[in-house]
Amino acid sequence: MLPTIDWQDDVVIMVDQRKLPSQELYVRCRTPPEVAKAIRTMVIRGAPAIGVAAAMGIALGVKRSKAKGTPQLAVELQKICTLMAATRPTAVNLFWAIDRMKKAFAEGAQSGESPEEIGERLEAEARRIHDEDVANCRAMGQHGATIVPDGARVLTHCNAGALATAGYGSALGVLRAAVEHGKRIAVFADETRPFLQGARLTAWELVREGIETTVITESMAGPLMRDREIDLAIVGADRIAANGDVANKIGTYTVAVLAREHDIPFYVAAPVSTIDISTPDGAHIPIEERDQREVSHFGASRVTPEGARIRNPAFDVTPHRYITGIITERGICHPPYLESLRRLVQQPLSPVRTG
Ligand code: MRU
Repeated sequence: MLPTIDWQDDVVIMVDQRKLPSQELYVRCRTPPEVAKAIRTMVIRGAPAIGVAAAMGIALGVKRSKAKGTPQLAVELQKICTLMAATRPTAVNLFWAIDRMKKAFAEGAQSGESPEEIGERLEAEARRIHDEDVANCRAMGQHGATIVPDGARVLTHCNAGALATAGYGSALGVLRAAVEHGKRIAVFADETRPFLQGARLTAWELVREGIETTVITESMAGPLMRDREIDLAIVGADRIAANGDVANKIGTYTVAVLAREHDIPFYVAAPVSTIDISTPDGAHIPIEERDQREVSHFGASRVTPEGARIRNPAFDVTPHRYITGIITERGICHPPYLESLRRLVQQPLSPVRTG
C-alpha cells in the first residue's frame, strides 16, 4: 500500500505529492501550522487525505500543548481547528474530520480526563479516522467493482487514488478492486491541469501496479469518446450536495457532459464523509480559487504573458443529472439522489472493520 500519511512518535509524516513521481520525499510535520501548510501547499491533497491530515494535526497540537488544564486546552483546540479549517474550503471531509476531533475532545473533557489523557484520546481518534478511511475505500471498491465490465477502458480525472485517501483510493480503489476480481481494464488518466494530478499521481499509482495506463490531455477525452475508445468514466469527489451535485477537480464537469453526449456511464466514488446533506445543491458549495502562478507558470518558467488575467478555480460542480451512480462504502446510490443519498446517510452505522 502507498504511504500517503502516517503518525510516528508524535510526528505526522506525508509523502510529498508535489514532488512525485520524480522524487519520493517525505515531509515531517511536528506542529499544527506545519500540517496546515502541508495541506494548503498540496504536499497532501485529495478530500479524504486532507481530512486525515487535519485530524492528525489537531491531535499533534493537543498532545504537544503545555496547557495547564482542560479549559485552557479547549481554547487552544479551537485555535488549531480554525487554522485547519482555513486551509482548503471545498473538501468537506476536512470539516467532517474537524468536527469528529472536537467531539472526541468534548467526550474526554466531559469524562474528566487530564490534558494528557485527552491528547491520547485525540491521537486514537485520528488513527481511527485514518484506518476507517482505508476500510471505507476497500468497501467502496467491492461495491464499485460490480459496475466495471471486464475489458473496460476507463477514463478517470485528477487523482482519487491511494494518495488522495489514507490508502487504496476511491475511484482508483474501484479500479483496483475490479482488477483483484480478475477483470482486465485499461485506464486513461486525464493529465489534470494545472497541478497534473492525473499525469503525475494517478499514472504513478497505476503503473506501479501494472495496470495499463495511458495519460491524455483533457482535450483528448472528447475525440476518444466519439471514437468509442472509452467505455466508462469514474472520478472522486470533494463534496456531494444533498441533491447529488458533485464538486470535484476542475475539468470533471466537462468529462461528465462529454460522457452524456456519448452515452458513456459516468460514476462518482466517494466515502459517506464526502456527502454534505446540509448543502442543498452545487451552487452552495464553496469553490477554492488557487494561486494564479499555478496556471501562469510551468515549474519556474512563466508561460503566459505579463498582463494576461488568470483564473484558477480548483474545482467545478457536476450537476446530478449527468451522474449515473454514486459509489460509497455503504452501496451505490442512483437517482433521485435527494432520496437515495439521504437514506444512505441516515443508515445506522455498522462497525467498520479496520483490521
Ligand atoms: O486539489 P486536489 O488534488 O486536492 O483535488 C482532488 C480531487 O479533486 C479528488 O478527485 C477528490 O478530492 C477525491 S479524492 C478521493
